[in-house]
Amino acid sequence: MDVHEALYTTRIMRRMKPDPIPMESQCRILDAAIRAPNGGNAQRWHFLAVDDLALKARLAELYASCRQQEYADIAAGRLGAAPHEDAVRRAESLARIKKSGDRFVEHFTEIPLLVFVFAVDDHGGANIYPAIWSSLLAARAEGIGGVLTTVLRYEACTVCDLLGVPTADGWRMIAMLAFGYPLGRWGVAANRRPVHEVSSRNQWGESFGARVPEPLWPPDADGARIELDRPAS
Ligand SMILES: Cc1cc2nc3c(=O)[nH]c(=O)nc-3n(C[C@H](O)[C@H](O)[C@H](O)COP(=O)(O)O)c2cc1C
Repeated sequence: MDVHEALYTTRIMRRMKPDPIPMESQCRILDAAIRAPNGGNAQRWHFLAVDDLALKARLAELYASCRQQEYADIAAGRLGAAPHEDAVRRAESLARIKKSGDRFVEHFTEIPLLVFVFAVDDHGGANIYPAIWSSLLAARAEGIGGVLTTVLRYEACTVCDLLGVPTADGWRMIAMLAFGYPLGRWGVAANRRPVHEVSSRNQWGESFGARVPEPLWPPDADGARIELDRPAS
């Protein structure tokens, strides 16, 4: 698969089939993950695969409870919107995520593979997110959808107890990834603010120098979708 296709179409896929993921694919996903950059190449990471039904059932309960806590925090304004964010757009976006999240919870025990990611001293995520993203890209290359979740942080201690994590040695749960063959179609993440709205050059707020009104993949035949700023005359 073309790297740009993978970059543009690796979406969060919450609707998935229960079909098992072959061990070869699981190995390719994690083998790609551990090739990711990480500080000092210390590789302080651990990937714990879960496919046991009883464990998934208990995790489903915890996940549902964590979501309730998260939505309570959002409603109370404790989980803030980004400073630029338009309130109406944010509400629409949250409603969409909630709808697909509800379905995800309802079918949680049917998810064929969960991968819990743990790290020690992860530099606020910097040491572990390249590996997480590589795993999602590698899954995409296999035609497997992934969901990156962090909501279980509300019950991190319970999850770590359940999974026998040696927290006394500094291991911390970073994320739970869910993998499965998608029911939906792969599409470009078009619901993003464009480059020229979120970038600047030399000084914060100065024009980046070009506008990119639409996603640049798939490539346009005439390549005319980058609009360069006209030099001031
Ligand atoms: C750090 C992080 C945490 C996330 N946590 C969750 C989560 O707990 N549950 C969930 O369903 N999605 C979670 N997501 C997925 C986001 O909701 C998703 O990336 C966003 O809605 C954009 O989706 P899209 O790429 O399909 O457009 C998380 C994403 C990130 C980067």
